[in-house]
Amino acid sequence: MIVVFGATGTVGRQVVAALAARGEPVRAFVRDPARASFGSGVERAVGDLGRPDSVRSALAGADRVFMVSAGPDALVHDRTVAAEVRHAGVRHVVKVSSVAALPPVGDAYGGQQAAAERAFTLCGAGWTFLRPAAFMSNVLQWSWSITAEDTVYVPFGHIARALVDPRDVSEAAVTALTSPGHEGRAYTLTGPEALTAARQTEAIGRALGRRLRCVDAPPSAARKAMADAGMPAAYADGVLASLGDPDPARGGTVLPTVERLLGRPAGTFASWLAEHVAAFSA
Ligand SMILES: NC(=O)c1ccc[n+]([C@@H]2O[C@H](COP(=O)([O-])OP(=O)(O)OC[C@H]3O[C@@H](n4cnc5c(N)ncnc54)[C@H](OP(=O)(O)O)[C@@H]3O)[C@@H](O)[C@H]2O)c1
Repeated sequence: MIVVFGATGTVGRQVVAALAARGEPVRAFVRDPARASFGSGVERAVGDLGRPDSVRSALAGADRVFMVSAGPDALVHDRTVAAEVRHAGVRHVVKVSSVAALPPVGDAYGGQQAAAERAFTLCGAGWTFLRPAAFMSNVLQWSWSITAEDTVYVPFGHIARALVDPRDVSEAAVTALTSPGHEGRAYTLTGPEALTAARQTEAIGRALGRRLRCVDAPPSAARKAMADAGMPAAYADGVLASLGDPDPARGGTVLPTVERLLGRPAGTFASWLAEHVAAFSA
């Protein structure tokens, strides 16, 4: 049985679907069953990563785990799952980490990702870490200002990112969970081209048939937007420091890892956009 945490999220949802399509026994851990519908054959475990007892129940009988965590409590959640994995006798965990965890860690966000990885290396199970570059889907955060003003406001937009299609992250996770040879490995996952925010904006404009502007937003404005969205200040600062990290080794350099793992080229931003362009239309 494979337990999928983060099963309603961008990556986890696709992991559940792909595992179920392969006929793997899969149990999706969800907070709100009303918001979580999966195909037939998918078990559901209702719980919260903030409640270790619910994590323990979800892991009963599991031999493999997919883990993705998000938000200010992510490290606490990772440590909870690592502790319960040990208790349950799980044999393999595939954990979505980040390029920010690549040593030498440069900021607080990266430090948290690296600490989460450490927790899983000590959990008694085999582990595989997926360290993706920025997700292509992050540009969905721009949909409001594109729709309203034909404008993108972004901090550190001059830094080129080898954006990865989250579907490739999901497929890499499924590969690591279902085929041998991935235990003890950390894979840095990128897309096939490094794009600045201006190039991403141009591509969205082309897909929409509209001319869009890309405006460099001061980090202070981004920090305020995160605070307004309820993000704790220390966490927002960590995320911003990570966004402003100019080291091309952490997500700016195109790598062949996705193609090697999946046996096909990594998805392009243009192909991701073709599927999601409606999100940018009024
Ligand atoms: N975005 C990027 O550019 C990027 C780059 C590199 C790495 N990453 C990694 O990927 C992660 C994001 O993955 P994603 O986009 O798939 O995340 P996501 O779409 O934000 O989904 C988060 C998932 O976690 C669940 N969750 C959150 N808090 C929970 C709790 N207390 N108990 C149970 N479930 C909880 C959510 O459930 P609900 O539906 O109930 O909220 C959801 O299923 C980041 O945190 C980071 O580690 C992201």
